[in-house]
Amino acid sequence: MKRIAEGRTAEIFQQSHESVIKLYRSGFPKEAISYEYEITKRVASLGIPVPQVYGLVEIEERVGIIFEYLDGKPLLQKMVEHPLELDDFAVMLADIHVMLHRFEVPADEGVNHFRKQKEVLASNIHQVDQLSPDEKNAILQYLEELPNGNRVCHGDFHPDNVLIGEKRWILDWTDGMIGNPAGDVARTLLLLRYGTLPDAAPDHVKEQLEGVRKQMGDVYINHYLTQSHLRFDEIDQWLMPIAAARLKDWIPEEEKDQLRSVIRERFYRKN
Ligand SMILES: Nc1ncnc2c1ncn2[C@@H]1O[C@H](COP(=O)(O)OP(=O)(O)OP(=O)(O)O)[C@@H](O)[C@H]1O
Ligand SMILES: [Mg+2]
Repeated sequence: MKRIAEGRTAEIFQQSHESVIKLYRSGFPKEAISYEYEITKRVASLGIPVPQVYGLVEIEERVGIIFEYLDGKPLLQKMVEHPLELDDFAVMLADIHVMLHRFEVPADEGVNHFRKQKEVLASNIHQVDQLSPDEKNAILQYLEELPNGNRVCHGDFHPDNVLIGEKRWILDWTDGMIGNPAGDVARTLLLLRYGTLPDAAPDHVKEQLEGVRKQMGDVYINHYLTQSHLRFDEIDQWLMPIAAARLKDWIPEEEKDQLRSVIRERFYRKN
């Protein structure tokens, strides 16, 4: 099988003309894989453009999900290949996010199958080492008071998880959840502003991205705001807990420093 892509958590192999296997790195928690499997099916059934899920496999003690092969290019790759069209791609990213957030999780049994945004964030914040117990408690209490939502949120929406082809597909539902779109947008904004590409990405791509990330973030957020009913302050209020939760992820120290200043700035504004 030919490897067609790799990310932090998995490698993607082409299995046939119609299917790929997303093979997780060994040691990746099995519950997370079954959640991605289940949630991708659920969001597909709501009509959200995602790959069809065909099944689970185990290969050399690694677990994989078999997905429909989608003929397209990640939006991140398109940004790198056509830097002059960057604004158009940032607008496209925002449009796709607005489209996603129109989907409500059905109030009946649907809700129970989705992780809840505030619970996921609280659990991640609990696991962060770099915050003191007092800081964590203050952030958790603040999070508790933020408005709930009943929309489908992706949890890790960035240009490498969007595939452009005959349609615009959203990939990688490991962190899919029900919640308030404002929180989902706050995370995308933090990723665009401070996020680091995986080590495997070529250096020239990383450098290119550094030069344009502010512009990309600005265009994305401004377009999202014009197309949705949210105001910037409603998104801003999620930045502190979202940044705190992201500190749990395995990310470089430089990015953590940036997130800590986002947290500190808002923490003292509030107190
Ligand atoms: N169904 C698919 N059809 C075609 N290409 C795919 C498909 N699924 C994934 N890919 C390719 O593989 C890349 C990585 O997939 P995915 O985002 O699901 O995993 P991951 O990146 O390992 O996760 P993480 O974002 O945690 O690093 C995508 O950006 C895309 O290029
Ligand atoms: Mg990915």
